[in-house]
Amino acid sequence: MQWKNTAHRFGALAKFFHWTSAAAFIGAYIVVYYVIWFLDEDAPNFLPVLNIHWVLGVLVGVLVLPRLVWRMLDVQPDDPPGSALEHKLAHAAHWGLYGLLILMPVTGYIGTSAATDFGLFAIPSFRDTAAFDWLASIFGFTWESFEAPVDVVHHFVGKWVAWGVVALHIAAALYHHRVRKDNVLTRMLP
Ligand code: HEM
Ligand code: HEM
Repeated sequence: MQWKNTAHRFGALAKFFHWTSAAAFIGAYIVVYYVIWFLDEDAPNFLPVLNIHWVLGVLVGVLVLPRLVWRMLDVQPDDPPGSALEHKLAHAAHWGLYGLLILMPVTGYIGTSAATDFGLFAIPSFRDTAAFDWLASIFGFTWESFEAPVDVVHHFVGKWVAWGVVALHIAAALYHHRVRKDNVLTRMLP
């Protein structure tokens, strides 16, 4: 098993980061819309199931930093045959995805007033951290005035933007595989 990328394919570590983040990201979506569409806020399993959304979301956020560090240290596979514009668009789309991998966990975490329970341990809510007290003392906001705009961003991007960007990304991977018949998809597969 090759850990590092080569000019022709992704290595095991890049694949590990990609597929665990992708599964957790898509899982976070499935869970939160299950909660929103099918569970009553008073249902006994409402919070435990929503907690799964938080766990998956925090996992995405925790993975993105080492992933970006590893990306800087590793070589990147060559662009597949295509025009300079196609390459620019593909790179922009990938950085857009990285932006979402940061924005969604951060806005989700700092805008939620309950701890994220991993079973063996829990991550305290941002509201209960010294970092929040410190920021609140400097900028003079309350939890309510801080949380509201952060929630707006999390909900807006989650509801209208992120799934579309991911759907385009998946469609592009399938287009390369089925239409272009190049190795863009297979070089990322486990
Ligand atoms: C991969 C990261 C994440 C994604 C893709 C994501 C996505 C979403 C989406 C799509 C919604 C529903 C938006 C709507 O239709 O209004 C949502 C709601 C929510 N998210 Fe996230 N989220 C992520 C991470 C987090 C994290 C880390 C937390 C907290 C620790 C969190 C807390 C919440 C809460 C409290 C809601 C409101 C649920 C409700 O309305 O009942 N999210 N998220
Ligand atoms: C079934 C779902 C998915 C498939 C088939 C897929 C496929 C791929 C493929 C083939 C590549 C390599 C592209 C290239 O070589 O230029 C890639 C890269 C990437 N994917 Fe996905 N992907 C999926 C889901 C996701 C999700 C949910 C995210 C994040 C929200 C994501 C984020 C990324 C990022 C950031 C890269 C760039 C990696 C880099 O070169 O640094 N992917 N994906």
